[in-house]
Amino acid sequence: MNDPHQSVMDIVFGRWRSQILYAGIKLGIFDTLGVVPKRADEVASELNLNRPHAYRLLRALASLGLLSEDADRSFSLTPSGESLRADHPQTLRGIVLLEEGPEHYAVWKHLCAIVREGGADGFVREFGRQIFVYAVGAAGYGAVFGEAMSSLSGGETALVLEALAAYDFSGFSHVCDVGGGHGHLLCTLLATHPHLRGTVYELPSVIEQRDMLWAEKMGVANRCEYVAGDMFTEVPGADVYLLKHILHDWNDADCVRLLSNIHKAAAPKARVLVAEYVVPGPDTPHFAKLFDIHMMCATGGRERTEEEYADLFERAGLTYRGTWYPASRLMGIVEATKA
Ligand SMILES: C[S@@+](CC[C@H](N)C(=O)[O-])C[C@H]1O[C@@H](n2cnc3c(N)ncnc32)[C@H](O)[C@@H]1O
Repeated sequence: MNDPHQSVMDIVFGRWRSQILYAGIKLGIFDTLGVVPKRADEVASELNLNRPHAYRLLRALASLGLLSEDADRSFSLTPSGESLRADHPQTLRGIVLLEEGPEHYAVWKHLCAIVREGGADGFVREFGRQIFVYAVGAAGYGAVFGEAMSSLSGGETALVLEALAAYDFSGFSHVCDVGGGHGHLLCTLLATHPHLRGTVYELPSVIEQRDMLWAEKMGVANRCEYVAGDMFTEVPGADVYLLKHILHDWNDADCVRLLSNIHKAAAPKARVLVAEYVVPGPDTPHFAKLFDIHMMCATGGRERTEEEYADLFERAGLTYRGTWYPASRLMGIVEATKA
């Protein structure tokens, strides 16, 4: 059984770990190391760092299991450390830069005030603008946000496809991923189902990040179109809609507005597949219950239960059909139909 005192201490010092990790990435430590050990002094001079402090940071990263330290102050990457290199195929670099970077760090400090007062989210309180408006204006943040979404996508796409392994796409031809980011999920789905074509519908600022788009890289560019637009104004016609981490960004009224736009544009028997961290019943620990607090701080959105998604669907004229889960139940795919 867990020591209750130690459990609290682990929570208290959690941010130290993630800030040590952030510094390692931001300073380029993971990209300069490999499997062959390199001396701390060498790392410090390559990255232009203070030598004694660089050694202490490397030692702390090793203590977290991200690096291995030899007796002569040489360091190499562990398998976890390798996943933090920019060139790793499933790199987690982007998500660290976003979640521990200055903007997200700053919005969390408003949590107590938000819980006391309700009202504006932490992004609005800190920067005076809603997160996606800020992302368009602050190009640096927009790029970090985009990299983070792609970085998360590797693992999440696998979870979504696992959950939908038995899903029958044979009666459908056109899938639209609303707010689909750089298209990792949609392009993987198209690669898995060669009869499908797809549309990634996104803000212009995201589609302009040409080097980050997945369609060419995954060999599905002939079946995947990137369309710029505003999902609160209209969405393209399709017979399957994907929304991964979209509804959780918005309050109920905005979600109903978006789902109503989908209802309006959708083919008669269209399906809507909402991929989110679905909140399970009381007293079941789940990442969704933590992510929910992040949404409170960052966007004013929320994570929801199956019943709450069913209610949003109903208010937009859609009918809830059920929820698909991967074995881990980390994410859920909540399904609705137009007819
Ligand atoms: C949390 S991200 C999720 C991205 C992607 N679905 C994923 O799971 O990686 C939300 C996305 O919604 C997009 N978005 C926000 N407002 C939008 C709007 N009005 N119209 C279209 N896309 C929008 C953002 O640009 C962002 O890529």
